Amino acid sequence: KKTIFSGVQPSGALTIGNYLGAIKNWVQLQEEYDCYYCVVDMHAITVPQEPKDLRKNTLEILALYLACGLDPEKNTLFIQSHVSAHAELGWVLNTMTYMGQLNRMTQYKEKSQKSEQNLNAGLFTYPVLMAADILLYDADVVPVGEDQKQHLELARDLAERFNNRYSETFTVPEPFISEFGAKIMSLQEPGKKMSKSDEDPNAYILLLDDEATIKRKIKRAVTDSLGVVKYSDEQPGIKNLLTIYSKFTGEKIEEIERKYDGKGYGDFKEDLACIVADGLKPIREKVNYYMSNKSELEAIYAEGARKAERKAAKMLRKVYKKIGFIPKS
Ligand code: TYM
Repeated sequence: KKTIFSGVQPSGALTIGNYLGAIKNWVQLQEEYDCYYCVVDMHAITVPQEPKDLRKNTLEILALYLACGLDPEKNTLFIQSHVSAHAELGWVLNTMTYMGQLNRMTQYKEKSQKSEQNLNAGLFTYPVLMAADILLYDADVVPVGEDQKQHLELARDLAERFNNRYSETFTVPEPFISEFGAKIMSLQEPGKKMSKSDEDPNAYILLLDDEATIKRKIKRAVTDSLGVVKYSDEQPGIKNLLTIYSKFTGEKIEEIERKYDGKGYGDFKEDLACIVADGLKPIREKVNYYMSNKSELEAIYAEGARKAERKAAKMLRKVYKKIGFIPKS
């Protein structure tokens, strides 16, 4: 069985972009692969976090994994800070990463331009920790949204560099980016990625938004004056809404276009609002269930940490030996 690794940062509420671009695909992959799905709390602290919020968000992401359909029996679901090997391998890989490579990371450039006062070394070296996450588990495949592609290239590069310098150690991971829906756009500026850190809450739909909020946000979504429901680059707003529609229902774009032939954006948006609201309702309910039954979550992350730790420790031992660290015993 091939191995998968992926993760989500508990840095706030998740959007339907995170769901459609990543978690929804994971659910399909869990049958075929040996999957490690992590809540990457150590990544989240690259921007300041209130401890109480970080605790809540971390559990909430785990609850979301379960609510979206990830089975804790089939997958290893765990919290990054529970497995110390992530930080340890991260350090080793830091010493093998060129500053120039990190300077070229577009996500860092964007984030550092936005908030000057928050700049810290962790934000800069964050992709190296991400590489450690992946390489520790011998992951063959990493399912992510399009915005993580560049980070994944670094992970591949570091795996190859290590293998060349020492000897065959790491599996070189392949990105899995679905050709459709890997980049859900802002509802207000469809040229821009949908992001939970957008200042305008109308730009995104959160997985935990209530029904009225979802409907209002879709109603206000930016469209155009052409008035035809068509998947075209000239209509980026409608194109994005069609993508969301298709990802939620599984219907093909052409079928949806046909269904709204001769109809206006009003009808289309109204239906879409119901589809998204209905699609998210069971997820929201399950998250609420787990958040009020924390002992179930505790049992799941404890077991996940045990499984993850076993595999990660083995890899770290191998790495330490190859670079010349003396084994304890
Ligand atoms: P994060 O927490 O920002 O996002 C989690 C996942 O959601 C995807 N995503 C999107 N997909 C489509 N449209 C969007 N608008 C959208 N916004 C976010 C992301 O691509 C991601 O797959 N660095 C990672 C977390 C991470 C990780 C890892 C991932 C840490 N270590 C190892 C994979 C493997 C991140 O910040 O994702």
